[in-house]
Amino acid sequence: MGKVVLLPEELRNKIAAGEVVERPVSVVKELVENSIDAGATRIIVEFANGGETLISVIDDGEGMTREDAILALNRFATSKIKTEEDLYNIKTLGFRGEALASIASVSKMELRSKTELEDGVFIKVEGGVIKEVNLWQGSKGTVIKVSDLFYNVPARKKFLKSKATETNLIIDFVKRIAIAYPQISFQLIQDGKSKFITPGDGDLENLISLLFDIRVQESLISFQKREGDYCIEGFVSKPGKLIALKSQDYFYVNRRWVRNNTILQAIREGYKGRILDGYFPFSIIFLTVPYSEVDVNVHPTKREVKFQKEKEVYEFVFRSIREALDEEEKKFFINMKAPETESKEYKSDSQITLDREILSLPLEFKPYKSEKKLSEAVSEYIPLRSGFRIVGQIFDNYIILETKDKVYIIDQHAAHERIKYEELKEELNLGYIQNVEILFPVVIEVSEEEKILLDKYKDLLERFAFSWEDFGPYHIRIVKVPYEFLNFDSKSIENLFREIISDISEKDLSKLEDKIIKSMACHSAVRSGNILIREEMEMLIKLIFEKNIPLTCPHGRPYIWEISREDLERYFHRR
Ligand SMILES: Nc1ncnc2c1ncn2[C@@H]1O[C@H](COP(=O)(O)OP(=O)(O)O)[C@@H](O)[C@H]1O
Ligand SMILES: [Mg+2]
Repeated sequence: MGKVVLLPEELRNKIAAGEVVERPVSVVKELVENSIDAGATRIIVEFANGGETLISVIDDGEGMTREDAILALNRFATSKIKTEEDLYNIKTLGFRGEALASIASVSKMELRSKTELEDGVFIKVEGGVIKEVNLWQGSKGTVIKVSDLFYNVPARKKFLKSKATETNLIIDFVKRIAIAYPQISFQLIQDGKSKFITPGDGDLENLISLLFDIRVQESLISFQKREGDYCIEGFVSKPGKLIALKSQDYFYVNRRWVRNNTILQAIREGYKGRILDGYFPFSIIFLTVPYSEVDVNVHPTKREVKFQKEKEVYEFVFRSIREALDEEEKKFFINMKAPETESKEYKSDSQITLDREILSLPLEFKPYKSEKKLSEAVSEYIPLRSGFRIVGQIFDNYIILETKDKVYIIDQHAAHERIKYEELKEELNLGYIQNVEILFPVVIEVSEEEKILLDKYKDLLERFAFSWEDFGPYHIRIVKVPYEFLNFDSKSIENLFREIISDISEKDLSKLEDKIIKSMACHSAVRSGNILIREEMEMLIKLIFEKNIPLTCPHGRPYIWEISREDLERYFHRR
């Protein structure tokens, strides 16, 4: 008995009607998915002229018998589901049984197929009409050749984009599906030229670097997490690496490539504070959830899926991303620690005698909490552990640090901003930010509305250690500020307070506390433009090491750039 059955009428209607073949790439997609469902280990996709004149897919899958092949050309003819129950538990890529019928009806198609044991079959179809059925002697598998797509639907043809666009869509699709099936070897041939062949050896990392030209180890974090029935596996950008203004997402649910907002939002939330607003990380995510918990029958192209437990999926993806990033940051700092045995080479030259003049420079930099003046702090500073050497500061903002085989360029402001942000957040959570009375209260002009706002948020701002009094109808007088701002001049305090007023005037108050912390962190951090002496650079770097903090400033800009000896040697063509 053949494997193909006609689905019962009710079920036909259940499967939402729609157009399967929108454009050339839809044909490629349907054919390749059929090959995968047929258990192929090798798939060759060839196309020409953006797919308009030729699309051919060859596979070494299980093939079809003569009867099956003929039946498969009917709408709703499938071997993949049999009952309505199956529809809610779909394990194959196809199931709607309409692709071959749809493709055949809008093109000239040749189908060659052979199963292991039976004779092979050749079928020629034009505009959905079978023109020829014959014997075919080939090896096990299926070859489908589609030419003159939409030859009988001129309206459709008119709506196709340029050949270049259609070509790119096809290349992009084959890459996407190849990524999901690293154990299948895909070859893509475009206009007679081979674009790529994937090895099909299951090595995903290798595959990613082949298809996207990415040095995976360097730019991507690989992660994996299992929780109950859910499993996630994937690769995402390391902080600061491979970010783009456009979403570059490769999401797969049960190995099916999908567009999905839940996953996208979870990733964005996971990267909050580690990527600039408006930018996206590169991400390849394989999510495995129980088949019964995803509805793939949302759209004829099966591009969209619906999760039964949307919130759980969101939380799971979000947590996985967060953990992966935290883990990566921990690893980054561990790797940064050079072996102690290298100490001779990199001894910090702490013997330099400190020049009085340098010390009397107007430095606002107080990287740790202490009542001590800088000169005292410096006199008891502990030099960086061996294995590191601070080369110096450049452009009055970047600290250069050398380890055994790497160079780090650190943005002093961004790094310190992150440190301050974490400190303030912790203090706020503990419920206490230390304040100080300022010797000369700072008088600020405020509008009536601003005054009302300040009254409204007085309690909140007091938790942040600000305190002020009314000073006539259009002024206030700031009398206490957080400890961090002790040595700030009036202008700096005014600037900070102005920013806080603008934070509380914003409509979106959901993240108000976070915004205020960010403003305070930004204002209290060492500025770009401040010349630092060695001991100050060392203190800053030590704080970065000790705190295990994210590798970006609170706004998501990276503050540390790692350059390996290899990178340099590659640049100078030494390797
Ligand atoms: N490359 C192939 N190898 C083996 N069988 C195939 C292949 N392509 C299609 N078939 C058979 O034809 C049937 C109809 O294919 P299709 O119209 O794409 O519907 P669906 O994939 O949704 O079942 C499939 O269920 C399968 O049994
Ligand atoms: Mg199919």
